[in-house]
Amino acid sequence: MDEFDASRSAARMRDAESALTGLQARFDTPDDATYLDGNSLGLHGEDAAETLQRAVDQWRDLGIEAWTEADPPWFDYGELLGDRLAGILGAKPGECVAANSTTVNIHTLVGGFLDAADGTDVVVNELDFPTDHYAICAQLEARGLDPDDHLVVAESEDGRTITSDAVADAVSEDTAVVFMPSVLYRSGQLLDVDAITDIAHEHGAYAGFDLAHSVGVVDHDLHRAGVDFAVWCSYKYLNAGPGAVAGLFVHEDNWDVDPHLAGWWGNDDATQFQMEQHFRPAEGAAGWQIGTVNVFSAAPLFGALDVVEAAGIDELRDHSVSLTWYLIGLVDERLPECAVGTPREADRRGGHVAIEHPDAGALSRALRDRGVVVDYRPPNVVRLAPSPYYVSHEDVWSAVDELREILDSDAHEDYRETEQTVT
Ligand SMILES: Cc1ncc(COP(=O)(O)O)c(C=O)c1O
Repeated sequence: MDEFDASRSAARMRDAESALTGLQARFDTPDDATYLDGNSLGLHGEDAAETLQRAVDQWRDLGIEAWTEADPPWFDYGELLGDRLAGILGAKPGECVAANSTTVNIHTLVGGFLDAADGTDVVVNELDFPTDHYAICAQLEARGLDPDDHLVVAESEDGRTITSDAVADAVSEDTAVVFMPSVLYRSGQLLDVDAITDIAHEHGAYAGFDLAHSVGVVDHDLHRAGVDFAVWCSYKYLNAGPGAVAGLFVHEDNWDVDPHLAGWWGNDDATQFQMEQHFRPAEGAAGWQIGTVNVFSAAPLFGALDVVEAAGIDELRDHSVSLTWYLIGLVDERLPECAVGTPREADRRGGHVAIEHPDAGALSRALRDRGVVVDYRPPNVVRLAPSPYYVSHEDVWSAVDELREILDSDAHEDYRETEQTVT
């Protein structure tokens, strides 16, 4: 095997060979920083900005008529965006919709599938993003199920990753729903969606996933895998802007499951404006919409998806794997005092890399002050997300070089006492 070349010129050569390097020009990086935080908030791009502006202009020019007369009609945003999202998630038309927020979608989907299931327990894992547990516990409590007894938490052996075996150990005949992230928000481990789905089904349970850290950067095959339902946000790798509309997937085999949080936007279009007091959910994922689509939070997703489709989700995934592989190689070569907390196998990695160091908080702040935007996840993780949309190998090289300099000069020591902010 070729020796790993940690030189800046080798990074430039990798960029020259990459088909996606030109995408970077479609995005704006504040203060010309090296932006490695796209797994928290993706960057502003001209495509998303244009479709947001288009909706603002339609509001001015058409007023209320824009619900039906705008191109595309606002009324259909959820379904139109859903069908385009289906294309990058391996779903069929009608199985996805853009609606609500991620946390609200967890409430309605976990609630609905809990009611439809035979079991009473929800299996999660100890490394989950907290909002998932908050929502699931609330849904259990609403059904008189004490989370101490009915929230079953799969454990991590190393504090970084969750194995499929750990999920299998947590599942029982009482399991109603197995709800897991596709990618762990701290370590960046990509879980085995197919295997976990099979484990759930072998026990007669539903399999649901939080795709917040994989949508737009990992190629999924939700329908074929038999995933029962999924949720995600659009403001990370999809670059649709802060608080952008979220999305959800309901497998065609589960279209008979009733939405837990019913609302008129999820009603069948044919009778929505008859204003009947009885809720008749639309067929498919559309029935899980709740209230009026947030037009200005959804409009940028049209432009953002133009970029994803033009680049191709498989190409984006390949580029992302190349960037994370390169980042891990540089950490090994140049930062021996840091550990890589992310699995090294490409098929077990999402879009970001966790670098572990006891002074991670101070290092993150020192990096930000030097124009390298990363984030810190207590107690010891600096997360670096080389988004394939706008980060080059050379950017990765610069970030690691900056970190090397900070460590060599002990510059981070000045940041130890500064306030710990987690953004
Ligand atoms: C895994 C995961 N789920 C959910 C969320 C947030 O959900 P919401 O968009 O409702 O704030 C995040 C936010 O970073 C996340 O990382």
